[in-house]
Amino acid sequence: MEIYAKLPQETEADVIVTGFFEDDKTLNDTQKSLDEKYDNVVSKNILEIENFKGKYLETFALPVCDAKILAVGLGKKEEFNVDKVREIAAKTIKQAEKLSRKKTVAFNFQNNGNMCCCKIAYNTALGAIMGEYDFDKYKSKKNEEKIERVEIIHCKPEKMTPAIEKAVITGDAMDFTKDLISEPAEFATPAKISEIATKLANENGFEIKVFGKDELKTMNFNAFLAVGQGSIQEPKFIHIKYTPENPEKKIAIIGKGITFDSGGLDIKPPASMLTMKTDMSGCACVLGVMKAIAKMKPNIEVHMLSALCENMPSGSSYKVGDVLIAKNGKTIEVDNTDAEGRLTLADALTYADELNVDEVIDVATLTGAVIVALGNTITGIMGNDEEFVKEIIEDSKEAGENLWQMPILDDMQDNLKSDIADMRNTGSRYAGASTAARFLSNFTKAKKWAHLDIAGTAFLDKPYKELNKGATAAMVRTLIQHIAK
Ligand code: BES
Ligand code: MN
Ligand code: ZN
Repeated sequence: MEIYAKLPQETEADVIVTGFFEDDKTLNDTQKSLDEKYDNVVSKNILEIENFKGKYLETFALPVCDAKILAVGLGKKEEFNVDKVREIAAKTIKQAEKLSRKKTVAFNFQNNGNMCCCKIAYNTALGAIMGEYDFDKYKSKKNEEKIERVEIIHCKPEKMTPAIEKAVITGDAMDFTKDLISEPAEFATPAKISEIATKLANENGFEIKVFGKDELKTMNFNAFLAVGQGSIQEPKFIHIKYTPENPEKKIAIIGKGITFDSGGLDIKPPASMLTMKTDMSGCACVLGVMKAIAKMKPNIEVHMLSALCENMPSGSSYKVGDVLIAKNGKTIEVDNTDAEGRLTLADALTYADELNVDEVIDVATLTGAVIVALGNTITGIMGNDEEFVKEIIEDSKEAGENLWQMPILDDMQDNLKSDIADMRNTGSRYAGASTAARFLSNFTKAKKWAHLDIAGTAFLDKPYKELNKGATAAMVRTLIQHIAK
């Protein structure tokens, strides 16, 4: 899909999506010029008709000679904001698919004076990309109605270009992340994802290291290797490095990379296993972020890490009662083989310590408990530095994602006590998201560490605002915002 800005009088779209406030249907300049072009059809119909009140997301399609005007309600003027722009763009582009023959749609929204026009353009473009996303690789019949061109209507089109470019970079990164999450585990194996990461690194001049099983053994990735030992797929650890000339700071982003989580010997019941090909969403997220970094070239050194393996039951699986000596030397009694993500992350966090970075952020589909606490629309954030956690929450607001902090208390370590090792890998049933974060905290020395639990938000079984059902690319936007503000 191509996205560009256009003058109102130059639009080539045959569907023009244009917004009206609920309490004030005054035409803006673009709407006035459309009105003139089409014999006052806008003012005669939209303004007078009782059926269209301008309520949020209400739509009204108006045929005009060679095109269609799709009026959309923006809701109350004082409540209008950029998050709504994104949702409206995502939803109306789907409607436009059905109305448009030329596969070109134009957007023009009102401004209530609270937003910069560039932010409207950015969120319109990003919403359009998000609304049009679907994963049809394995469908023999593809959607042939897809919109091919999006025009952002503005009286100074050239001023909109940087915002549109940023939206396209972000949208492309999200599409890449969603594609990878949506792939079956049989395709997206540790080896395959390493190949994809290597290609991404080589295309963009990043350094990359991929460690296989033997190297990982010599590097003492024992907790990670234990998780992968029941699978015929070889574990892989990937490390991509982006180095600008004089970096202001150094940061490591780590993504949980379980390419399939059967639970291991503590096997999951069928319903819980259904979506477990998505247990590498953290890895897909940070890889997508690297794709955006390649284009945005921020002045920050970025290390992307992921420990990739499958958690499977077999004769060679790790077992409950096993004691693992993690990379940092601490010992862990395996209490439950389904609490595998924290074991792989433990070693990845220790590896990150050796990189001398200023900040460490991990993204992981880590616990069912975070879903019980926050549902499917809010990601849980935990960390060891209040200011740092707050900063990332601010970034998420700017990026249009939901983050909510959960606590980590020192005494939660009691919950992880083991009779024979330094700790066990699970605690009691309660406060599961915090307990998992407390477990992770044993494996990082970073002054600023934040852990984002995306178990609920990485994959949706029904649409939410601008997000379609399926993979969401959760935290891609927030991390891009954090790294390339
Ligand atoms: N990958 C799961 C967490 C998960 C659950 C992600 C639902 C997405 C949707 C994780 O490895 C897991 O199995 N966690 C266990 C931990 C428990 C055994 C302490 C859980 O949350 O049930
Ligand atoms: Mn698990
Ligand atoms: Zn898992």
